[in-house]
Amino acid sequence: MLVMTDFTRVANKNEFLGSPLKKVVIRGLEICIFKQDDNFHATSNICPHQGGPLDEGELQDTCIVCPWHGWMFDVRDGSCRLNPNIKIQTFETKIEGNDIYLKI
Ligand code: FES
Repeated sequence: MLVMTDFTRVANKNEFLGSPLKKVVIRGLEICIFKQDDNFHATSNICPHQGGPLDEGELQDTCIVCPWHGWMFDVRDGSCRLNPNIKIQTFETKIEGNDIYLKI
């Protein structure tokens, strides 16, 4: 069973009406939240290649494309489409009503 105190409220679903991407900073971590269909996913916002800001990239289906050099990461598990040895950190999400929580 999930313990509520493990999760931090980070956003409201209505904040994604205009864009499927949103950057939040929680406990010093830059995190990007993605709305993909009716699901919400969260990863580190910093591209492991050269530090590009993923929240400024383009979401293509389940992949975020880094705006700097085009590396692609699956937002569901953080895996890199170009190099299977690279992964970005992901965070578990939970929805309660319109509120989005991250497990950090
Ligand atoms: S910094 Fe992201 S692909 Fe280069």
